[in-house]
Amino acid sequence: MEADLRHGRDEGVTKGAASQVLCRLEEIEDGAGKGFYFTQGAVERAIFVVREGDQLYGYENLCPHLGMPLEFVPDQFISADGSYILCSTHGALFRIEDGHCVSGPCLGANLVPVAVGLDGKGQVTLETKERAAQ
Ligand code: FES
Repeated sequence: MEADLRHGRDEGVTKGAASQVLCRLEEIEDGAGKGFYFTQGAVERAIFVVREGDQLYGYENLCPHLGMPLEFVPDQFISADGSYILCSTHGALFRIEDGHCVSGPCLGANLVPVAVGLDGKGQVTLETKERAAQ
């Protein structure tokens, strides 16, 4: 299933049956996150990717507390100390590596992971096959 990707800038995007190129690795600051909003078939999707070096963590941009997007300011997904994913609405904190909430109103809940990776060309990709199967 092809995705129609929009993330604030009109950049070239490679579409494929099994994966979708989101951006280049260097477009995500190390220790920070980046949000992506797009349609996949008839489904509107909002995800974000956090980068720690070459390690990438992807999640649906949906707080388990009230189902709100996590960020107020575009691409601000990380707490001030750089240690956690932050929901800006009520301050929930989530572990970067597994999306588990360690503080806030949804303590113990989890962000929904999405399969992201880095291809051989330095591009951040989203595995779309996983979503198509749901
Ligand atoms: S909506 Fe995220 S903490 Fe309330």
